[in-house]
Amino acid sequence: MIVGVLGGGTMGSGIAQVAAQNGHKVVLVDLNEAVLELSKSKLAKIMARLVEKGKISSEQADETKSNIQRSTDIQSFKDCGIVIEAIVENLGVKTKVFSQLEDITPEGCILASNTSSLSIASIGASLKDSSKIIGIHFFNPAPLMPLVEIIPSVQTSEETLGSAKNLIDSWSKVTVVCKDTPGFIVNRVARPFYGEALRIYEEGIADFATIDWAMTEIGGFRMGPFTLMDYIGNDVNYVVTATVFESFYYDPRYKPSFTQMRFSEAGYYGRKSGKGFFDYGENATNVAPTEDLALGKKIFDRILMMLVNEAVDAVFLNIGSKEAIDLAMTKGVNYPKGLLSWADEIGLDVILKQLEDMFAEYGEDRYRPSPLMRRMVESGEKFFA
Ligand code: NAI
Repeated sequence: MIVGVLGGGTMGSGIAQVAAQNGHKVVLVDLNEAVLELSKSKLAKIMARLVEKGKISSEQADETKSNIQRSTDIQSFKDCGIVIEAIVENLGVKTKVFSQLEDITPEGCILASNTSSLSIASIGASLKDSSKIIGIHFFNPAPLMPLVEIIPSVQTSEETLGSAKNLIDSWSKVTVVCKDTPGFIVNRVARPFYGEALRIYEEGIADFATIDWAMTEIGGFRMGPFTLMDYIGNDVNYVVTATVFESFYYDPRYKPSFTQMRFSEAGYYGRKSGKGFFDYGENATNVAPTEDLALGKKIFDRILMMLVNEAVDAVFLNIGSKEAIDLAMTKGVNYPKGLLSWADEIGLDVILKQLEDMFAEYGEDRYRPSPLMRRMVESGEKFFA
C-alpha cells in the first residue's frame, strides 16, 4: 500500500521514515520545497548514523531512502491507500485540505490526522464520506517513540478503525484506541505532571530544581516537570494546557498556571530560547535542589496522586481501556510505571485519602476524587488483580 504523508515538518518527516522503514512506498507532500529538501538531508543523516552503529545495513538504509518520494503537489496522493496529515494545527486549514484530499485519493483511501488538540469529528465533518476519517497520533520523535494513539471519531467506520490499527501495528508500534476527547489519553492524563508541579512552586513549597529532583530521584521519572516543560517549550506547553482547559468547559482540574504564562510572555521558552525555568546559557549556574527526603516525598506523592486520579477518571469515562491507559503513559511519555498499576501497588485507599485531605483543605474542585476511585476502594477491587 502506498502511504501518503502531508506535511514534511518534524512529525511528517518522522512518520514518513517509519512507513518507509516498514517497506512502504511513501509520498511526502509539503507546500514548501525547502522543507522537503531539509527532510531529505535529515533522513540521510539518520540513516548514515544507524548504519554506522550497525543497527541497519546500508542496503536497508538505501531502501528506506528510495521508498520516499517527495513532492509539493498534493495530486501526488492519487494512488495512496492512506494519507496521514501532519500540517499546521489549524482547523480551517485542515478542513480545507481534507476535502481536497478526498477528491484526489482513491475511493477506499483512509484519511488520517496526526492532530494533538483538534477533534477528529470536526476534521471529518469536511468530508463527503466521513466514515474514512480517523486520528492517528504519533509522539515526537515518531521513529523512536513506540506509542501511537488511534482515535475513531463518531463518524469513523469499524472498517477504517480496523485497517488503520492493523497498519500501525504492523509497523511495530504500540497502538491504543482512545475516545475523541481533548488531549486523547496522554495529553489529558499527563496534565497534572506540569500543573501540580507549577502549583507546588506557586505555593512556595519548593523551587524548580527541588521539584524536579523529587520526581526523578524519588519518583523515577526520566525528566522532572520543569526540565520537561523547558524541553517542550513553555509557549507550546502553555497553549496545550489552555486548549485542554477550554475544551473541558473550564474544568478547574485543567486550569493553566500564571507562572507558566508569565514565563511564556517574557520569552522564557526554555531550551530553544536559552532560558526557561532553568538557564541554558554557556556560563549558567542553576540553583542546586534541596535534597530533603521528607519534602521530596511530599512533592512526589502530591503529583502522583493527581496523575493517578486523572488516569482513574479516564477509565471511569471510557477514554480508553485500563490496559490502554497504562500503556499510553509508559510508551508515549516514558513513565516508569503505568499509573493504574502504580495505584494498585500503593493502594487506591491511600491515594483516595490524600485526595480527600487536599479537597477538604483547599476546597478546590481540582482535588475531587474520581467516582471510580471511591467505588473501587469501597469494593476493595484492584485494576490488575
Ligand atoms: P511543523 O511546523 O514542523 O510542520 C508542519 C509542516 O506542514 C510545515 O513544513 C509546513 O510547510 C507544512 N504545511 C502547512 N500547511 C500545509 C498545507 N496546506 N499543505 C502542505 N503542507 C503544509 O509541525 P509539526 O510539529 O510536525 O506538527 C504537525 C502536526 O502534528 C500538528 O497537527 C501537530 O499538532 C501534530 N503533532 C505535533 C507533535 C510535536 O511534538 N511537534 C506531536 C504530535 C502531533
